[in-house]
Amino acid sequence: MAEKEGETHSINSGQVMEKIAALTKSRGFIFPGSDIYGGLAGFWDYGPLGTELKNNIKKEWWNKMVHKRDDVVGIDAAIIMNPEVWKASGHVDSFTDPLVECKLCHRRVRADYEEERRAHSEEHKKKKEEASWTEPKTFNLLTEVFLGVTEPKQKTFLRGEITQGVFVNFKNIVSSSRVKVPFGIAQIGKAFRNEITPGNLTFRSREFEQMELEYFIAPDEKEAKKTFDYWKKERMDWYLSLGMNKSNLRFRIHEDNERAHYARFAEDIEYKSPFGWKEFEGIHHRGDWDLGRHKISYKDQDTNKEFTPWVIETSGCVDRAALFFLIDAYSEEKDRVVLKLHPRLAPYKVAVFPLLRNKPDIVKVARQVHDSLKESFVVAWDDRGNIGKRYYSQDEIGTPFCVTVDFETLEDDAVTVRDRDTMGQERIKIKELEKYLIEKLA
Ligand code: GAP
Repeated sequence: MAEKEGETHSINSGQVMEKIAALTKSRGFIFPGSDIYGGLAGFWDYGPLGTELKNNIKKEWWNKMVHKRDDVVGIDAAIIMNPEVWKASGHVDSFTDPLVECKLCHRRVRADYEEERRAHSEEHKKKKEEASWTEPKTFNLLTEVFLGVTEPKQKTFLRGEITQGVFVNFKNIVSSSRVKVPFGIAQIGKAFRNEITPGNLTFRSREFEQMELEYFIAPDEKEAKKTFDYWKKERMDWYLSLGMNKSNLRFRIHEDNERAHYARFAEDIEYKSPFGWKEFEGIHHRGDWDLGRHKISYKDQDTNKEFTPWVIETSGCVDRAALFFLIDAYSEEKDRVVLKLHPRLAPYKVAVFPLLRNKPDIVKVARQVHDSLKESFVVAWDDRGNIGKRYYSQDEIGTPFCVTVDFETLEDDAVTVRDRDTMGQERIKIKELEKYLIEKLA
């Protein structure tokens, strides 16, 4: 919850965010929400390529955190819950941020975001005005919703974290599955926060998608430390396995005054973004806070002992991960822009081109190649402009391989395969193409 401001990125220039914003909009990754009505602060829509990227991130996460494990099950809980959930969880009383208001123009910012306050004061200074701020007031982040058609409507909240859906289902999951402590419950889903200052593209939004694991253990500090360290490493390794640059990642332990109300101990994974080191996943020792507050206990079937399990949580965000994967992959080389996304994350794995769009023989074979690759991969088709332009267009959206069907293909049943990163080209027989790409994309 409490994000700490970090120092400024030294490698990426300040322009990187502008370039990413322009590229992601022009190529259909991310659009401002409600764009034709001037947008709505903190809300974003994902276009065709952004949706593929997000789906790939979620698929990788689910595969690693649920399908590949015997000790984790997944759920998909409702976004809107009984308001009693939020009272019990402590969010109604404690899910707050401090807010200050500029006495000159009434702009509101988070009291603890020194950088934003400084930048705002500078703007006034330019107009020879001296900004001053009100005393900090606490501000609840939960978004209220009202249900029913007749007054009084029932007031509840959009979920501020997806997590509570796991705790309220704990008993149902224990009784309906074969899980035994220690075990985990994973979930991916939308969360909503009334952020005071949304910004930096999707980084701080009011609607975002979390991917979380709640791992339940017997109440024991030694076990908690071991489990915490285990998940910390697992999560960092996951980002590295998908190609994130190690030097742009670090852990940061939360100070006492920044921990969320439910956390005994918390450590973030941070990314060195163009706007400073920023949190994009938290690992939290929640102890028995949640199950205790919801008055839920667990009976060990082997020992007959009843206890309130403790929870170690990993809480990431699909949107922040997508943004940081994009920033990390963005590179400029001589005359081209390349998104060096990991092949498993790239929206398209392969693009197929007929050398010339007005040569029916070539187009026919290219279509056949395209259609057969579609059985195994997400494939793009492009027959506009010249080959060089098509390569650069695919580089810009991160497509790892381009396949060109040319005049020679009609003679030798082979195509030219061009590698995004090395720009090297190889001639591959059509009948070996699928196997070749499967190996390269693994
Ligand atoms: N269940 C624990 C929890 O929600 P959190 O630290 O408040 O913990 C977890 O949030 C993650 O959710 C953060 O590390 C961040 O990636 C993401 N997140 C939080 N607020 C966000 C926002 N306003 N916009 C985008 N992502 C956000």
